[in-house]
Amino acid sequence: MKITSRILISIILITAWFSVNATSAAEIDYIKAVCVSCHGANGIAKSELTPNLAGQREKYLAKQLRDFRKSANRPTPQKEELTDIGGKRRHPIMSTITTRLSDGQIEEMARYYSSQACRSKTKLDQAKSIPKVTPCLACHDENETTHEPWVPRLSGQNKLYLINQIYALRISAEQKYAQGSSLRSHPLMEDKIKHLSAFEIETIAHYFAARKCR
Ligand code: HEC
Ligand code: HEC
Repeated sequence: MKITSRILISIILITAWFSVNATSAAEIDYIKAVCVSCHGANGIAKSELTPNLAGQREKYLAKQLRDFRKSANRPTPQKEELTDIGGKRRHPIMSTITTRLSDGQIEEMARYYSSQACRSKTKLDQAKSIPKVTPCLACHDENETTHEPWVPRLSGQNKLYLINQIYALRISAEQKYAQGSSLRSHPLMEDKIKHLSAFEIETIAHYFAARKCR
């Protein structure tokens, strides 16, 4: 399905979506039908540019959905929003969709996708040397017990999506505000990735995408 038709179908479904607060099983199924067109059945996305949600940490997913929702209807982030410790995220599609989700529905969707089995699509290229990921593993080591639950797992994520997010996160939030409609910033990430070359970004993304996920 073409991206434009997926967006169109999503918009039709969202427009038809009238319930706001309840979280009955039927409503959750209805919401899943909106998500599936882009994030795939059980949270494995077809497009490399769209994130897999399967097996991602529950609290991280819920936080991202709340971040998207917070930024909706506010085309111009305020100064204090750009420096907020919690990070900022805006995306034309996701911010629109999340305005229709209640807190309870966000929690349900995060729980659902987190409990699905993740699957890596990238094969490890033995010819590629392991990039310098030690500084990243300080936070992204996939170990459930030692890290904050709002730090995402990177292993098994789509490679092109990871590359995109690294570029998005490293442009300062204020610059992005000057540039256009998508935005992502997080105070813990910006300085960790600023120095990376395009080659390093590609090899790091490849490394994480090919890593076996949980
Ligand atoms: C029309 C396509 C589309 C639909 C429909 C859609 N998404 Fe997304 N979603 C995306 C894209 C593209 C991104 C990446 C956004 C970015 O680049 O910041 C994304 C990002 C996300 C993220 C952040 C994931 C991460 O790893 O940081 C979550 C969570 C998410 N979507 C959940 C949902 C849920 C739940 C639904 C259904 C209610 C949904 N999406 C419907 C396209 C879609
Ligand atoms: C001090 C902790 C910390 C370190 C070190 C760190 N990160 Fe992160 N990273 C985070 C947090 C927190 C987020 C979630 C940001 C948000 O909430 O939007 C994140 C998000 C990301 C994302 C987006 C993932 C997604 O699913 O959307 C990528 C990609 C990423 N980091 C790559 C890296 C790389 C590459 C390195 C090493 C060069 C690194 N990070 C080092 C804390 C860290």
